[in-house]
Amino acid sequence: MARIFSGIQPTGIATLGNYLGALRNWVALQDGEDECAFCLVDLHAITVWQDPEALRQQTRQMAALLLACGISPERSILFHQSGVSAHTRLAWIFNCVARMGWLKRMTQFKDKAGKNQEEVSTGLFVYPNLMAADIHAYHATKVPVGDDQLQHLELANDIAEKFNHDYGVPFFPRIEPLVLKESARVMSLRDGTKKMSKSDPSDFSRINMTDSADIIASKIRKAKTDPAPLPERMEELAERPEARNLVGIFAAVTGQAQQQVLGQFAGSGFGPFKEKLAEALVVHIGPISQRTREYLDDVPALDRVLRDGAARAEAIAGPIVAEAERLVGFLPR
Ligand code: TYM
Repeated sequence: MARIFSGIQPTGIATLGNYLGALRNWVALQDGEDECAFCLVDLHAITVWQDPEALRQQTRQMAALLLACGISPERSILFHQSGVSAHTRLAWIFNCVARMGWLKRMTQFKDKAGKNQEEVSTGLFVYPNLMAADIHAYHATKVPVGDDQLQHLELANDIAEKFNHDYGVPFFPRIEPLVLKESARVMSLRDGTKKMSKSDPSDFSRINMTDSADIIASKIRKAKTDPAPLPERMEELAERPEARNLVGIFAAVTGQAQQQVLGQFAGSGFGPFKEKLAEALVVHIGPISQRTREYLDDVPALDRVLRDGAARAEAIAGPIVAEAERLVGFLPR
């Protein structure tokens, strides 16, 4: 049995990108052989300023969404990162293993900090070390993510390798990304060359997992497209990123191959296609959004799920990180 680990930031509202790129894969994986741990990464969230009350609220909201998507607190370990101290203990060790040059190459840091590198938090810079610690604290070997996280996973492997080399023991295993090819990168509805993101200033760039049927329909209607009709083959969409993205989304939510979708709509303009796409999204997201609201009605029960998850997570990560601390030369706690 292997261990699977993944995380999501409890900031803003999860998007269709988070869902298609990561969350639905998590739900599928928990029915397999491997043990799954899924984490609401509140420590990562505060690398940029979060209003404390909003962070608490959004952590619960994200927990409710994961349960509504089908994450089972029995089959998986669902918890909040700050509830398990092993993450920060190992992250500190990794801060001392990773090299400045490695972190300076991280494209996500460069994107997020932009020209403002002197002003962003130091946490934002060492963020990938904490992410490596999240995974390695569990000796997890499989990590389901969208493709924007791949560079961080390569870094996590580099850190593990350097730790093992420096301390002369094969302590941390290699990790393998699990990426769903068809929906590894769901793009913005306003610009097919940009990732769909919670932090895009335009709400019309994304579908939120809590959007009502009317809002979904209006966002899809307004989604950027081009004047040509849908073609017969996917290759013909190579230079049409917005059209390709919408076909990809349609395929993912209806469980078809992209080529099959074109088989249905080739020659048609975007009007009828968008109508069917909005319908398919409403059928898929509506029940999830309804269940999310139901879970949010019982906050004490949600908090209990996370606390129980954190206790189970601590029971796995605590001894692994204690051994890492021993290898480094710390006295027992
Ligand atoms: P986060 O919170 O940005 O996103 C959570 C997951 O959603 C995926 N994702 C997407 N997939 C496809 N298309 C998109 N437009 C899209 N947007 C987001 C992300 O790839 C991710 O899998 N650093 C991580 C959280 C993290 C983590 C970890 C992940 C912390 N520790 C350990 C794995 C293992 C993040 O910010 O994800």
